[in-house]
Amino acid sequence: MRTSRRSEVDPFIVMDVMEAARAAESAGRHIIHMEVGQPGTGAPQAAVRALSAAMEEGPLGYTVALGLPALRTRIAQLYGAWYNVDLDPDRVIVTSGASGGFILAFNALFDSGDRVGIGAPGYPSYRQILAGLGFQPVDLPTTDANRLQPVPADFADIDLAGLLVASPGNPTGTMLDRSAMSDLIEAADARDISFISDEIYHGIEYERRAVSALEVSDDVYVINSFSKYFSMTGWRVGWMVVPPDHVRVVERIAQNMFICAPHASQVAALAAMDAHDELQGNMDVYRANRALMLEGLPKAGFTHIAPPDGAFYVYADVSDITHDSRALAAEILDKADVAITPGLDFDPVRGHTTLRFSYARKTEDISEGLRRLSDFMAKHR
Ligand SMILES: Cc1ncc(COP(=O)(O)O)c(C=O)c1O
Repeated sequence: MRTSRRSEVDPFIVMDVMEAARAAESAGRHIIHMEVGQPGTGAPQAAVRALSAAMEEGPLGYTVALGLPALRTRIAQLYGAWYNVDLDPDRVIVTSGASGGFILAFNALFDSGDRVGIGAPGYPSYRQILAGLGFQPVDLPTTDANRLQPVPADFADIDLAGLLVASPGNPTGTMLDRSAMSDLIEAADARDISFISDEIYHGIEYERRAVSALEVSDDVYVINSFSKYFSMTGWRVGWMVVPPDHVRVVERIAQNMFICAPHASQVAALAAMDAHDELQGNMDVYRANRALMLEGLPKAGFTHIAPPDGAFYVYADVSDITHDSRALAAEILDKADVAITPGLDFDPVRGHTTLRFSYARKTEDISEGLRRLSDFMAKHR
């Protein structure tokens, strides 16, 4: 049977790295995981307790497509607490992770063939989801001077239906400050370009807080998730905030495509939102890990890095070491037992000279990983 042309999307290379690391582990080797983009911790205890109580109480059938009303209300409150934004809960839509949010947002906003700008380097699945749905992803190469985030000049001459940004970004962890965010939203607005802000790493920020696109405008789509700050990757629950007149549009698509986000995960997510102390405990670990990375990576020989404002990644330019990041990552896994991600996932053009290091795991793993990287580089040079 033939397969469609639209199904010919690229693999997610980090998944291949994870598989190589798993194979090494099953051969008895001890691998330090700096490839995975997920917390080493599970869902907050309160989330697990709430779910087990709910499972005793009832069948956890479908919820309404837009999500449990109590969860939508609680998410709206978060915008008051984090950004001082007064948000109507009716504008909040609970999704199957940020990934489910992208599918809903792209389908609600774009027609077949529409071009959507994404910063490069950027989260690989933007490109693949857009292409798989029949839209055209347009990479906007970013620069060190703009801390690897797009600016209006990057799409001034390009015809776009949409612009998707992420702050803090993956793989860089760099953020758009308020004026950079406003400039992008204004430039998009002036040309009727739909603006989507991926805010999945909000809450995981170090020296200043991340700015939400909703602080600047109501005429934007904001996508967020319980995967990162709330430490619930496998639960597949997230949310989206859309302009009031788009709620019904997205609801109709959500009803048909997903029916609803997983009910059990919605119950757990609601409780997770009050697990402040436990979540701040996770933040203490990321903060310590970040400090170790910012000191240890340059010492090991990875000198060209953009200090991350948020998330749990460091993106390094390794053009002085290699022009084949995939081979270098494979060699580091093979010889140093450290799994890292080659930049090609994030930037198909320039990623052959970059690597992404994740520091989401335990601090002792980060120390050990840095020691191994240092030894490897000493022999490599
Ligand atoms: C920038 C970014 N957006 C979205 C996602 C997908 O998140 P979710 O687990 O909520 O689908 C990821 C996952 O790593 C990410 O890094």
